[in-house]
Amino acid sequence: MADQGKLVLEALAGRRTTRTPIWLMRQAGRYLPEYRAVRAKAGSFLDLCYNPDFATEVTLQPIRRFGFDAAILFSDILVVPHAFGQNVWFAEGEGPRLDPVTDREGLGRLAGAIDLERLAPVFETLKRLKAELPADVTLLGFCGAPFTVASYMVAGKGTPDQAPIRLLAYRDPDFVTALIDRLVKGSIAYLCRQIEAGAEAVQIFESFAGALAPSLLPRWSVEPIRRIAEGVRARHPDARIIVFAKGAGAHMAAYAPFADALGVDWASDPAEADALIPAGLAAQGNLDPLALIAGGEALETGIDAALAGFRNRPHIFNLGHGIRPETPIAHVERLVERVKGARR
Ligand code: CP3
Repeated sequence: MADQGKLVLEALAGRRTTRTPIWLMRQAGRYLPEYRAVRAKAGSFLDLCYNPDFATEVTLQPIRRFGFDAAILFSDILVVPHAFGQNVWFAEGEGPRLDPVTDREGLGRLAGAIDLERLAPVFETLKRLKAELPADVTLLGFCGAPFTVASYMVAGKGTPDQAPIRLLAYRDPDFVTALIDRLVKGSIAYLCRQIEAGAEAVQIFESFAGALAPSLLPRWSVEPIRRIAEGVRARHPDARIIVFAKGAGAHMAAYAPFADALGVDWASDPAEADALIPAGLAAQGNLDPLALIAGGEALETGIDAALAGFRNRPHIFNLGHGIRPETPIAHVERLVERVKGARR
């Protein structure tokens, strides 16, 4: 069996594992001095994403240091708009910036189909990672969900409550539909190529599910992600797909029919989330990233709650959102030790 010993793949196949596997969203990043050193050499953040030597190195750093059970490709969700020809850059200390696309005319200036050639360094990085990773570590690819990516494309930056795209979705639903359609097709092509380059499972990040009113969630979030999952499986029937819909809360089960695991964010109580997720489906999550920063009692209680809440299903331990730059390394070491040492 190709996936023998890969605990993350075991959980994604719906099997109980001998211990709970663990990886962390944003596990390669600024809380690690070795990441900051490579980042300084690389120049801009996108230069880092598009340089296979550097991107491979920073992906491997947290695996070497902590022994995580999965490695996630080092890249960003905004390389997709970039590969459609949108101008994307990362302003130092400010986050992502894009030339906004707010109407049909703007969309017309972008490429009709994603230019996968522009993403060739990403596939090269995956190929190298597949060759270099220890045999028991699962290689994950990813993309952003269409609504989350579109929110950046429309606003040209991160926004507190994604108001620009939400307003446009009311005023000009045809335009937003066209934008999302394009992202659905591009994401299918992109994820398929990631799988062909070596990704053993992929995660779809819907970071802003919580910005959508429940009545709007099916059209702008659930359906686009369902179409991506179906499109990927049409070419790769055994593709493993994790859906992380942050803020979906009580509606998280809407994504279950086409997911191999549901990511659970930190705002959900693990036991309550467990009750919402269909039996046998893997859950991933959901320690509060702030409990990891705090350490001590907060960390121990948080770990116990997640392990207990998901003990009756396949569980992949993770944070309930990305790790933050100010996280002490000793707390991450403690987390991994506790989770790897816990009996199932
Ligand atoms: O998880 C990993 O280690 C893989 C790499 C990864 C990054 N971004 C690296 C990154 C992944 C999976 C992402 C996803 C991503 N990017 C999301 C979805 C997940 C989430 O957090 O909700 C979103 C919304 C983005 C867009 C993005 N990229 C923002 C808003 C920022 C700036 C915020 C910040 O932390 O600075 C980025 C930059 C970014 N992406 C960094 C990293 C390590 C920090 C940039 C740096 O090193 O200067």
